[in-house]
Amino acid sequence: PASARTAPHGDVTVAGVALTEIAERFGTPVYVLDEAEVRRRCRAYRAAFPDTDVLYAAKAFLCRAMAHWVREEGLGLDVCSAGELELAVTAGFPPERMVLHGNAKSPEDLRAALRLGVGRIVVDSTGEIARLAAQVPAGTRQKVLLRITPGIAAGSHAAVRTGTDDQKFGLSLADGTAQHAVARVLGQPRLELAGLHCHLGSQIDSVKPYLSAVRRLVGLLARIRRQHGVTLPELDLGGGHAVAYRPGERALDVAALAVRVRAELAASCAAADLPVPRLAVEPGRAIAAPAGVALYRVPSVKRGGDRTFVAVDGGMSDNPRPALYGVGYAPRLVGRRSGAAPVPVTVVGRHCEAGDVLAADVPLPGDIRAGDLVAVPVSGAYQVSMASGYNLVGRPPVVAVADGRARLLVRRESLTDLSSRDVGL
Ligand code: LLP
Repeated sequence: PASARTAPHGDVTVAGVALTEIAERFGTPVYVLDEAEVRRRCRAYRAAFPDTDVLYAAKAFLCRAMAHWVREEGLGLDVCSAGELELAVTAGFPPERMVLHGNAKSPEDLRAALRLGVGRIVVDSTGEIARLAAQVPAGTRQKVLLRITPGIAAGSHAAVRTGTDDQKFGLSLADGTAQHAVARVLGQPRLELAGLHCHLGSQIDSVKPYLSAVRRLVGLLARIRRQHGVTLPELDLGGGHAVAYRPGERALDVAALAVRVRAELAASCAAADLPVPRLAVEPGRAIAAPAGVALYRVPSVKRGGDRTFVAVDGGMSDNPRPALYGVGYAPRLVGRRSGAAPVPVTVVGRHCEAGDVLAADVPLPGDIRAGDLVAVPVSGAYQVSMASGYNLVGRPPVVAVADGRARLLVRRESLTDLSSRDVGL
């Protein structure tokens, strides 16, 4: 985070709290979240995107405190399950400021959304339309957005590219599915078509694909007005804004994105003689990732072949991203100053497979040894939220730091937690 400082003895403080102190007090592995950094990022979005609904994508990381912070900063919430929805509600998040996503929403997801009064439900398939309408109580109307697949390839990895037709999300613009779904929704008296949605992908570092998406979706808005005589008031452009995980990587310039998207929207709407719809964006990673640090203890260092393996006490169960997407991180030694020259090492986890590699060929001081602490910056998104129960090691706690104080947000998963769902013997 921006508030990370290195002291002369090599320790790192975040928001005025030493990482060594956090390791001692809460144990390792532990995830540390800088509250001020989360809030600063929320505010930067609000400032860059006036007259826009900024919805934090809860899938990046959610806990009650996080929901509370983003709410206080004036953001809405993108949720994709009854679980995320209910957790946010228990933190006091107003359901009408939420949007529910999902390509395969369960009856439970839809029941929770309708019962709690979620602001928008994003329809992802034609089949979902009648099913949803049938559950909306008589005399009421549910606002929906249609998730459109605009046919745009963007995103850093195939697993997170969602703007093209060869993946599971959305209603295709190219083959007419989108247009068909529009007609279906307009024919449902219990559904109110509030607008269109698209989400191109994740870790997108250029503004261009968003501008293409605006043009294509405004084209569809214009066609909807021609064919049906209705002017849809909302346009949600999803998330996907890239962050830099390592020095030299490029983050998406959010301020530039905002300026250019709004200019493109104004121009495209003027050309089509349409009023400018209200814009929404759904950043997840760009709010949470840079605010988080993962902190591990090193139980062992050893040589194997021509490599040095630095093992940490977590791994793919708390951060599956390197194994899933082959992405890189920049771990560093914390807690002591080392005069040793950096050597290339492979930072591995504790799990029972050779693929449990957190960072390959990264420089760490040549005297790194068992007992040291290693911190992995930019760990606030898609790590805790994607943590698994693999090897029953227990998911790590999440600690918030602010103004020189640390407090526990989510406790470590205990041995009791781990066995408590097992009711079979
Ligand atoms: N809106 C929708 C509908 C989404 O599906 C997503 C992310 C977002 C917003 C937020 O995207 P963001 O701004 O965070 O890129 N597990 C992967 C990322 C998966 C993203 C899924 N959808 C990773 O660790 O890189």
